[in-house]
Amino acid sequence: MKLFPDHLVSEGLAESLVINKIYNMDCTEGMRMIPDNSIDLVIADPPYGINYYSNWSKDSNYRSRVRSVGGISNDKENNTDFLSEVVQELDRVLKPNTHIYWFTRWDRVMIQQPVLENYFKIKNSIIWMKNNWSMGDLRGAYAGQYENILFAQKGHRTFNEVAGKKRHPDILQFNRVPPNKLNHSHEKPLDLISFLIEKSSNRGETILDPFVGSGTTAVAALHTNRNFIGFELDPEYAVTANERIAEAKAELCGSDRGNQSYSERWSIINGEKKV
Ligand SMILES: C[S@@+](CC[C@H](N)C(=O)[O-])C[C@H]1O[C@@H](n2cnc3c(N)ncnc32)[C@H](O)[C@@H]1O
Repeated sequence: MKLFPDHLVSEGLAESLVINKIYNMDCTEGMRMIPDNSIDLVIADPPYGINYYSNWSKDSNYRSRVRSVGGISNDKENNTDFLSEVVQELDRVLKPNTHIYWFTRWDRVMIQQPVLENYFKIKNSIIWMKNNWSMGDLRGAYAGQYENILFAQKGHRTFNEVAGKKRHPDILQFNRVPPNKLNHSHEKPLDLISFLIEKSSNRGETILDPFVGSGTTAVAALHTNRNFIGFELDPEYAVTANERIAEAKAELCGSDRGNQSYSERWSIINGEKKV
């Protein structure tokens, strides 16, 4: 089974990419190779535009695992033109009646919301409430305990039921990844990403993550029997993401559900697909 229709493949538009793979390349270049209307859900965790440098740079263990102590690509304060280009491509590749989740921070919402609104209908600014407090100005500011996720639609799609509930509140509580387990300074919790995937896509559908980082979306897609495709500019993070994907596949192949192993289910649902 192919992800994209035959005529697009024969026109050469979809020849060079395959799904269930992440690519070490700029997402704006990569997305140009994805045909129109071919993606079922976008999970985007872009560089926030905050010139991030890690506070943990003195911890040598952390430094060797979490490479973004030196900063994150395309994170300079005025990255709006870059993000606009990304959003334009996301609109093109998403099928009609689909969802997009866009991670950001409270002081970037006023800049990034209008960028998204050029193409999508924003339905919520979801609060991801974490179990920790961020550092920042310890004496002069309240301890930050959340990040924002802009939830937007292309057309209209209704939510799936997850954990017996169709309607969930716009405050989502998920523990952040503990510092000693982090692969990336901005790594998102696997259970949060799996939840968003289950709310907004079906088994066998394809999820695009333009900013793969350590590969959380890809691993969550494997856990939830969805296909994925993603791009990561930093070669070392692309390696980390591929390692996590390989580990997840190995782990899931060993786990049975009912009388069907994960590998059987994976090949039935996802198979080998040429883009
Ligand atoms: C906020 S992090 C994503 C973290 C990810 N959600 C995780 O759980 O590990 C953003 C990532 O986007 C990458 N990046 C920045 N510009 C990019 C571009 N043009 N194309 C692809 N990746 C890019 C950065 O190297 C960084 O790893």
